[in-house]
Amino acid sequence: GMRKVSRIQEVRSFLREASGRSIGLVPTMGYLHEGHLSLLRRSRKENDVTAVSLFVNPTQFGPGEDLEAYPRDLERDLALLEREGADLVFAPRPEELYFPDASTWVEETRLASGLCGASRPGHFRGVCTVVLKLFQIVGPTRAYFGEKDYQQLQVIRRMTRDLNVPTEVVGCPLVREPDGLALSSRNTYLSPEERASALRLSRCIALAREAARGGQRDARSLRETARRHLEEDPRIRVDYLELVHPETLEPLETLDGEGRLILAAWVGKTRLLDNGTLCPE
Ligand code: PAJ
Repeated sequence: GMRKVSRIQEVRSFLREASGRSIGLVPTMGYLHEGHLSLLRRSRKENDVTAVSLFVNPTQFGPGEDLEAYPRDLERDLALLEREGADLVFAPRPEELYFPDASTWVEETRLASGLCGASRPGHFRGVCTVVLKLFQIVGPTRAYFGEKDYQQLQVIRRMTRDLNVPTEVVGCPLVREPDGLALSSRNTYLSPEERASALRLSRCIALAREAARGGQRDARSLRETARRHLEEDPRIRVDYLELVHPETLEPLETLDGEGRLILAAWVGKTRLLDNGTLCPE
């Protein structure tokens, strides 16, 4: 059976009995979908014990962002996790995880500065802080993150490396709807019309990929191909769209090796992310 706990001490005592066995951790903010479940299935394959955290982390939301509106359905999440064979679910209250006078933060300063970091100041500081805290609580052998949040994955890899955290960070492929839309808990905010417009995010990456396959290597031209497709739709406002090196996240001028096209766009009042690889022909 699955154990559901809300206290740090309960996590520690449950996992004390796992000593000598490998522990996989899947950190989430809940409102689970197939993207989250793909991480859980991967962890179950690779570890003896799998823990999932459900926590809408307040410190990674800025003022005026959707912390209060963020979708939540604990009962449904627990039923899915039980069915999928999670061993431990940790769903703490914010007061359990954060001291009211907490004054220590974890900040990655290079990879976290551009892209989402530029649009959401403090966001990755909140992400790194909560992820390191979860690592300290669970002590995972491996931790699973999706390429859906590509910059987040790279920031966490770097934070883990730089701070000598003995956890292997495992990146997992982006899971999409059959029509291409990247699965996201925030898709629930979309009206039917916005849902149709949001298809342009994955489509614009496919268009840039085709241009790259056709021999286009100039990053500006590849970016423009993608951006034009987004801007054709009045419901969409591009936040950023960059072609970057897959590990350093530095902007590319020419597609010499593999590149990552990575974007954030507002569809109505909902900010969505997407990304994908581009390869030179
Ligand atoms: P959340 O948005 O709930 O996502 C939890 C994990 O699921 C992340 O690693 C994310 O990349 C992955 N994920 C989401 N949608 C996915 C998809 N369509 N395909 C593959 N993986 C997907 O990301 C967070 O929560 C938080 O920032 C967190 C890391 C939990 C820290 O609070």
